[in-house]
Parts: sequence; C-alpha cells; structure tokens
Amino acid sequence: MNRESVHGRTEIEFPQLELCRPSLDDLPPISLPPGYTLRPYRPGDEVAWGEMMTQAFSPYWNLQRFRTLLKPHFGFRPERVIFLCSGERPVGSACAFTWPGIATSVGFIHMLGVLRSHCGQGLGHALSLACLHRFREEGTFQSALLQTESFRLPAIKHYLRLGFRPVLVRGWQRKKWLQVLERLGMQDRLEELGINTLPVMSDFTFYCRTMSLFTYLFWLQATAWLR
Ligand SMILES: CC(C)(COP(=O)(O)OP(=O)(O)OC[C@H]1O[C@@H](n2cnc3c(N)ncnc32)[C@H](O)[C@@H]1OP(=O)(O)O)[C@@H](O)C(=O)NCCC(=O)NCCS
Repeated sequence: MNRESVHGRTEIEFPQLELCRPSLDDLPPISLPPGYTLRPYRPGDEVAWGEMMTQAFSPYWNLQRFRTLLKPHFGFRPERVIFLCSGERPVGSACAFTWPGIATSVGFIHMLGVLRSHCGQGLGHALSLACLHRFREEGTFQSALLQTESFRLPAIKHYLRLGFRPVLVRGWQRKKWLQVLERLGMQDRLEELGINTLPVMSDFTFYCRTMSLFTYLFWLQATAWLR
C-alpha cells in the first residue's frame, strides 16, 4: 500500500468530504504513547501552533492565521484548542469548535495536525478522540462533524475507526468514498457505511451552509484587516 505523506498537500476539494459521529456516547478512553500528554491552549502557544500547521497543511496556516482566524472565531475557547505535547514541546493540535452554518449542538473538529516526525503512533486518533471528549464534557453537544479531503487517508482511517460515518454533501462524493475505502483496504465496510445508498444533502442546505461559512470567513478576515 502506498504511504505517501499528506503533510503540506494543499489540493482544494470543494465541497470537502464530510464525516459525522451521530452521538457522543460510547467514547473509548484516550490512550497516549509514553512521554506524550494533552493539554489546552495557553497564551504563547500560537507560535508552536503556526509551526505545526504550516508543516501539516501549508504556510498559510501560520501564527498570523491563529491571530486572525482562530482566536477571534466564535468557536474559540482556550480549552477547545487541544495541544499534544512530547515532554513540554507541542507536536500536534486539534480544535473542538462550533462552526458557521452548523447547529450549535454539533461539535466541529478543525485543524488536526501532528508534526511529521511524530506520526505513525496513532496520535491523530488520540487528538480526534480528545476533541470528542471535549464536546461531551461541555454537555451541550450531541454529535460531531468534520470535513476533510479524500487524500487525507491517515486522518480518514482514524475518523472511521472512531465511529465517524460519511455524509454525502454532493452526489459525486459517492465515487470519492468508494475510492477512499478502496485505498484504505476497507471495502468490507462499504455496505455497513451505506455508501451506495446514503442520501445526498439538499441543495438548499448546501447553499445556506456554504454562504454562512464564506460570509463568516470574509467577516473574520475583514475585521483583521481593519485592526
Ligand atoms: C492526520 C494525522 C495527524 C494522522 O497522523 P497519525 O496519527 O500519525 O497517522 P498514521 O500515520 O499513524 O496513519 C494512520 C493510519 O493510516 C494509515 N495510512 C497512512 N497513510 C496511508 C496511505 N497513504 N494509505 C493507506 N493507509 C495509510 C496508517 O498505516 C495508519 O493505519 P494503522 O493505524 O492501521 O497502522 C497526520 O497525518 C497529519 O498531521 N496530516 C497532515 C494534516 C492532515 O491531513 N490533517 C487532517 C485534516 S482533516
């Protein structure tokens, strides 16, 4: 199986693939390899966040983006930006947010990334699970959602293991999901995940959500320019 790195890949897939965990029940405990710990954001962490996300995603996701897009986001709370540390050093992060156009009872996992040199130990799984625990601890969330690209196979493998299930935003994503499961060697889950029979999100919901998101992101960016 091809294990090409996903770090630094920037291909845009719109709309992204979407996965939902319909409930926050039955969350397994979080287990970490020795030497790693999880903790919430502390002031000053933004530099390390920028470095990690630059490597995981692209140079766009840097310190500046933490200040303009993450910290002022209505979903931001320090305890919702989870840092994974090796000793004292942050080596990964994920956000357990709320999201424009998505019901407030639905937690949204955002910006999951682990430094390449620490990958291969299931740390992405631990961080995603930490987000789910965060949602459950807050008490107001009933389910969780996230969006991703079809080439992010390590992340998708973790999400499927954690009980996330594909949601079809557009009809053509059915084919994408078939390809993803094939590349992951998980064709045996095709039927259980209902890929061939999943309903497709209505155009109305899709356009309302997309408009909410773009309007909000534009507003965040505009307020940053004005500051
Ligand atoms: C997502 C991320 C944190 C996962 O890191 P990780 O927890 O170390 O993940 P791993 O490298 O252990 O891979 C997880 C699983 O996917 C498998 N996998 C990895 N690359 C694969 C590939 N190209 N094809 C098939 N399977 C693959 C691994 O073998 C592993 O399976 P296993 O647990 O059965 O052994 C990391 O890849 C990352 O930071 N990526 C860049 C940012 C990103 O894509 N974020 C997700 C945003 S939605």
